[in-house]
Formats: sequence, structure tokens, C-alpha cells
Amino acid sequence: MIATQPKQADFDQRTPILAVGVDNGHGLLKVVLDADFRQMKVRCPSKFKELREDLLDYPTSKYGSTFYYRDGDAKELIGREFKTGELAYTTDPYGHTKLSDKAEYKIDYALHSILGALGTLPYRQVWNLYLVASIHNSKLFAHQLTEVLEGTHVVNFNGKAASQSIIKLHVGLVAPEGAGSYVYCRHQNLIDPTKIAIALDFGTGTIIPTVFAPGGSIEYREVLSVGGCVDLLDEIARVRELQIYEGGKLGDIELIRQGIENRSFLYGNSGISFREAYQRELMPWLKDRFSLALKTVQPWRKLAGSFVVWGGGAQLPGVAAAVEKFGFTAVADGSWANALGLQRLAQSRLERSK
Ligand SMILES: Nc1ncnc2c1ncn2[C@@H]1O[C@H](COP(=O)(O)OP(=O)(O)OP(=O)(O)O)[C@@H](O)[C@H]1O
Ligand SMILES: [Mg+2]
Repeated sequence: MIATQPKQADFDQRTPILAVGVDNGHGLLKVVLDADFRQMKVRCPSKFKELREDLLDYPTSKYGSTFYYRDGDAKELIGREFKTGELAYTTDPYGHTKLSDKAEYKIDYALHSILGALGTLPYRQVWNLYLVASIHNSKLFAHQLTEVLEGTHVVNFNGKAASQSIIKLHVGLVAPEGAGSYVYCRHQNLIDPTKIAIALDFGTGTIIPTVFAPGGSIEYREVLSVGGCVDLLDEIARVRELQIYEGGKLGDIELIRQGIENRSFLYGNSGISFREAYQRELMPWLKDRFSLALKTVQPWRKLAGSFVVWGGGAQLPGVAAAVEKFGFTAVADGSWANALGLQRLAQSRLERSK
């Protein structure tokens, strides 16, 4: 038997197309894909660090990776190497780039985010991906986002000498942010699609009240002028004990986020607890934002059949009980809701196209 090298065309047919939902948040990227009948979920801090020198050792993480962009349609990335997510943070806790640093980074770093997420998954020679993504103003930015992502990208994950991966991205749809969460909540029976629904997105950078018409089209949406969860993290970062520990600097909000999410309320391995500060700061932070959000959706309150809070802020300890008093349901996996719904959209569009 003569072994022959498979041609590129053969390869594509043999590599299944996977449906992927991508929620590129200001604070956290969420990617959901179905591969081999298994759902994979990746969540990485939206952080990046370009590497200027070769590394001897490539650490790995569940929350970020290193990619070397060898070749492909993103010409400006060819020959460059980046750390993403947790690895960008640990390499340079103060000097990495955050997606929230500039509004245009949602586009500029979208490809970095997705490649970084794929690098956390078990190795594949070829990824053939059909993406449904979302962005705040999809009418304005859908085209730009598609241009940045679409195409073929040849990278080495976690070391230039590692086997290369070919990543083919096709953007099926760029939905308005929240469209995925709506789909997810409808399937969880948290939203009655025959009536108007009011949803408040408590994200890292933004609070977005949205009114959905029956069926799910967006009737009204407003990005509040106040910041999101990051303002709460910033308040906690002022705690005196943390400032002393940091030698006069404010506490590091990445460590505060982790301490809240793992429910220890501990600041890294310092042994310092910020539980009291959290308990003190949560309600004033929430009250301001919740009442502002309610004001914007007031005209629809008497007409709506469903009231939900999503985004990671819905998962902050204490939030579910507080919003319940006003008839709102906090979505238990609020941080994931959008990406999970976008993945559903991707899956059904892909199946319809077969
Ligand atoms: N499991 C959890 N427990 C507690 N808090 C959480 C949890 N998951 C996320 N959060 C908090 O919710 C916040 C917002 O997360 P989310 O994923 O909604 O942000 P984002 O989508 O990156 O931001 P934006 O929507 O503004 O672009 C984070 O700051 C995080 O600390
Ligand atoms: Mg978000």
C-alpha cells in the first residue's frame, strides 16, 4: 500500500464543520462549540500580551494560551506571537493589553481572542469553524468583525516548534449582543416568547437594558452611562488592607474577580479577605444600576411577561435575591447565556444549510 499525502481539498471534506458561539466580552471571552457530540466551553479573560522574544518554556492554562501566527489571511499578524487570557495576565500583571482599554479593540483583538481560546483545547490539525458572534452595535460593526475573523489562519499553539494547526473561520452571523441570551433563556423557559421580555445585562464594562418584542426582535436597548461589574471590583480594590499589601497601589481587580467567582473572597494567596468590603459595596453598586436600568424600561414594564437579569453580574453572590424582590429572575449561568444561545443559533443555521 502506498501512503499518499492527503490534499488540502480532501482535508476540508473530512474535517467536520463545527458550530461555534462567540461572546467577546469586555472582561471575558466566552466560546461554546460542539465537537464530537460534546459541548466544549472556554472562558478566558480578555487580555493579550505580544511576545517579543522566544520562550524556553510555554506554560499552559485552561483560561488562555500562546499562539504564533505563522501564515494566513490576517497579514499584519504573520510572524507574531501572543499570549492571551490568564497567560497574558500572569506574564505581565500590570502591562498587558485589555480588550476594555479601547472601544475598537473589540474588533482589533477579536481574532486574537478566538485563536487564544482554541489553544486551550486538545490539539487538532484542522479546525473548520462556523461562527455566530455578537457585538453591541451589530448594524455598525458586523461587517468589520467579519472581515477580521473570516479566512484561513495557520498557527502554532503553545510554542513555535509545536505542530501547526490550520484554522478556517467562516462567520455565519454577527448578532446584536443579547440575541444569544434571549435564545438561551427561551429554551430554559425563563422567557415567554409570546410576550414582551425585559432583560438587563450586567456585564464587566456595561449595563444594558433591552426590551424584546414577542419573538425576540429588539424593541429598545440602551447602554447605560454607568460602568458594569468593573466598578464594583474597583471599589473593592480601594480597601486599605489591599493597598498596603500592594505597596500603595490599588488592589488588582483580576484577583478580586477570581476571589468572588470562587466564593472564597480571598485576594490571591495573600490570605487577605475582602468579604466585608464586598458585602458593604454590593448593594450601593447594584441599587444605582438597577434603578437606572428600570427607569429606561419603565414604559414596557406593565406590558412585559418576562423579566430577567443576565451577564456575569447575575451570578454575583447576593444579586439574585435582590432582583427577585422586583420580579426579576437572575439567570444562573448568566455569564455563559449569550455564548450558549449563539452556539444554538450557529448549530441550527449550519443544519439548515446542509
Ligand atoms: N460565576 C460567577 N460568579 C460570580 N461572578 C461572576 C461569575 N461569572 C462572572 N462573574 C462576574 O460577572 C462580571 C461580568 O461578566 P460577563 O461575562 O458578563 O462580562 P463581559 O461579557 O466580559 O462584559 P461586557 O458584557 O461588559 O462586555 C465579571 O466581572 C465577573 O466577575
Ligand atoms: Mg457581555
